[in-house]
Amino acid sequence: MAFGLFKKKQEEKKEIPSVKAGHLNLKVKEVVKETADAISIYFEQPESGAIQYKSGQFFTLIAEINGKKERRAYSLCTSPFVDPSPAVTVKRVEGGLMSNHLNQNLKAGDSIEVLEPIGNFTTDFDPANSRHIVLFGGGSGITPLMSIAKSALAQEPNSKVSLVYANRDLNSIIFKTSLQKMEAEHADRFRVIHVLGEAPADWTGHRGFLTQEIIKTALADLPQFSSDHTEYFMCGPGPMMDIVEQALAALSIPKAQVHKESFTSDLSKKEAPAADADKIITREVTIIYDGEEHKFSVAPGETILERGLEEDIDLPFSCQSGLCTACRGKCLSGKVKMDEDEGLSEAELNEGYVLPCVSHPLTDGVVIEIG
Ligand SMILES: Cc1cc2nc3c(=O)[nH]c(=O)nc-3n(C[C@H](O)[C@H](O)[C@H](O)COP(=O)(O)OP(=O)(O)OC[C@H]3O[C@@H](n4cnc5c(N)ncnc54)[C@H](O)[C@@H]3O)c2cc1C
Ligand code: FES
Repeated sequence: MAFGLFKKKQEEKKEIPSVKAGHLNLKVKEVVKETADAISIYFEQPESGAIQYKSGQFFTLIAEINGKKERRAYSLCTSPFVDPSPAVTVKRVEGGLMSNHLNQNLKAGDSIEVLEPIGNFTTDFDPANSRHIVLFGGGSGITPLMSIAKSALAQEPNSKVSLVYANRDLNSIIFKTSLQKMEAEHADRFRVIHVLGEAPADWTGHRGFLTQEIIKTALADLPQFSSDHTEYFMCGPGPMMDIVEQALAALSIPKAQVHKESFTSDLSKKEAPAADADKIITREVTIIYDGEEHKFSVAPGETILERGLEEDIDLPFSCQSGLCTACRGKCLSGKVKMDEDEGLSEAELNEGYVLPCVSHPLTDGVVIEIG
């Protein structure tokens, strides 16, 4: 190789600085406008090798906004079995820092720091499976469901996939064209049932909010998709998911077959911690992370993660709302009170896992091991 070319290659490599373990610096390959208020961000695969992820998992994007590093979780909308480049789709939230920053500023060629994909809202794909995967999505909640649908159709030739997808109107349907293509390609295995809040006059599909009635009708309309084994995945606004959960409970669907991903937490719905309020006083907590032990005092009104970060300990986190499990640790001794535990499964709770981003020490001697 000519020296000039070699030097150029070296300089290109240098453009992306190395980052700490678990962090990646990814180059934006393409930004695709999906709707008026949503973009998909496709990333170039790093030179070190393709990013390993499971359908339904999420990246944490880190960006400096107004002089402060912000991080937010974004589910991968691509399939590791189908798409050469991983992508996330970001829908603007009114007044939201990161979603507006990314929609307004990000362009091809930019680099962005991300945390490696994690998340439990996933399923293993096996060509021997013969199941019906039923997806319930609302608005931006389509992202992890899109990844699951693509992977299931590609990896499980005997499985069928149905998507019940609720949106405000026709123009706000993310992936409208891709979904139409997937339906045409897999006519006997993939079906999308749209529900529109504000539908045009000639709309023949479901109108209004997603209701238990619509869910029951939609499922009954798919007898040809019936299978001995059905699994349900939902992701969307809280009230929509409440309705889906109620409808599935009314149909006596076992909870083990129902999987849920929340993008936002509704702490107002949680029980007030009246019973434990007097126990939440300033207490010393020990965190074991990355082979090091850190001791610090946590005051009422702050979480263990917040105090740890204030103490300049480089703890892992993403949503800071008890949803994503990026901060997950095991409570080895003592007890904590969690404001939210939605991200953890019952098995994880029984094994003593806690989420420091929403945890307060309830007793002395709390020791949490992270990682
Ligand atoms: C596991 C996980 C996966 C996620 N995947 C995606 C994804 O694929 N695509 C995507 O667009 N978002 C996704 N999110 C939501 C995302 O992480 C951010 O919360 C969202 O983009 C808002 O961030 P922001 O900085 O713009 O708003 P903030 O500045 O953090 O918040 C502004 C206001 O908006 C409210 N708010 C925050 N999120 C939402 C929301 N989703 N809907 C309505 N109100 C909200 C907040 O409560 C606050 O009042 C995911 C979240 C989690 C936990
Ligand atoms: S940072 Fe997401 S659960 Fe704690």
